[in-house]
Amino acid sequence: MRFAGKTVLVTGAASARGIGFATAKRVSEEGGKLILTDLDEDGLAARVADLAAFGVEALSVRHNVTDARDWDAVLAEGINRFGRIDGLVNNAGITILARVEDLDPIQWHRQIEVNLTSVYLGCRLLIAHFRDRGGGAIVNVSSAAGLVGMRRCTAYSASKGGVRLMTKTLALECGPDNIRVNSVHPGVTETDMQKVARADASGDSKATAAAVPLGRTAEPYELGAAIAFLLSDDASYITGTELIVDGGLTAQ
Ligand SMILES: NC(=O)c1ccc[n+]([C@@H]2O[C@H](COP(=O)([O-])OP(=O)(O)OC[C@H]3O[C@@H](n4cnc5c(N)ncnc54)[C@H](O)[C@@H]3O)[C@@H](O)[C@H]2O)c1
Repeated sequence: MRFAGKTVLVTGAASARGIGFATAKRVSEEGGKLILTDLDEDGLAARVADLAAFGVEALSVRHNVTDARDWDAVLAEGINRFGRIDGLVNNAGITILARVEDLDPIQWHRQIEVNLTSVYLGCRLLIAHFRDRGGGAIVNVSSAAGLVGMRRCTAYSASKGGVRLMTKTLALECGPDNIRVNSVHPGVTETDMQKVARADASGDSKATAAAVPLGRTAEPYELGAAIAFLLSDDASYITGTELIVDGGLTAQ
């Protein structure tokens, strides 16, 4: 029950098969309360109902992570409902895949805004809240593509590499205030985003799995477990680190 008495805010949590909801489930199984946010209101309502079926208290808020005013509203609603927030998972993201010469500036800015600027907005707001209440933990969901180059990931890699290094800077700034900030780097994980990316690349799942030393892709719950670890007091002396959860993909 590592999250008993604690509340965790997870962005991009509307998809039943997503990393965000897998994290929320894991936190809830260990006693935590949840604030789930996403653009997809129907999905959020379904996920809150999924958790309620197990007696878990969860609040959902429609939230565009690129909008600073939406962030203010999420914090206000969260505090109003639960009184405090102890953890933040910046998970919402999109993938725009294109070779650099095919990537137009609008796509570039969109990718950076949703995957990187959003993380700045969320950290900026929640760090102030955590400072006021004596500490907190943040996990920023980056990617294996934030560690090494990947074809057609010009903007995506730039956004995720930015998340990786912003995380380390925030860890330095916030350590004295008992706020830990870490990044998680998923490899190929079986979510809707991955299905779209794979279809777009005309790839099949067997070929993808063959490139992974563990010989398979990841299930969302495996990412949820890693993120929950970094949020929890089991990681009380870990900040500014990057936890790679990619089956060995980037070890080669
Ligand atoms: N699936 C993978 O293989 C993989 C690999 C590396 C990193 N990641 C990262 O993991 C995170 C979760 O991805 P996933 O695979 O679970 O995909 P997903 O598509 O299931 O989840 C992403 C969620 O973010 C939401 N979202 C998108 N734009 C938003 C916005 N502007 N405001 C609020 N919500 C928004 C979507 O509605 C969706 O519910 C992403 O940051 C992604 O880049 C995924």
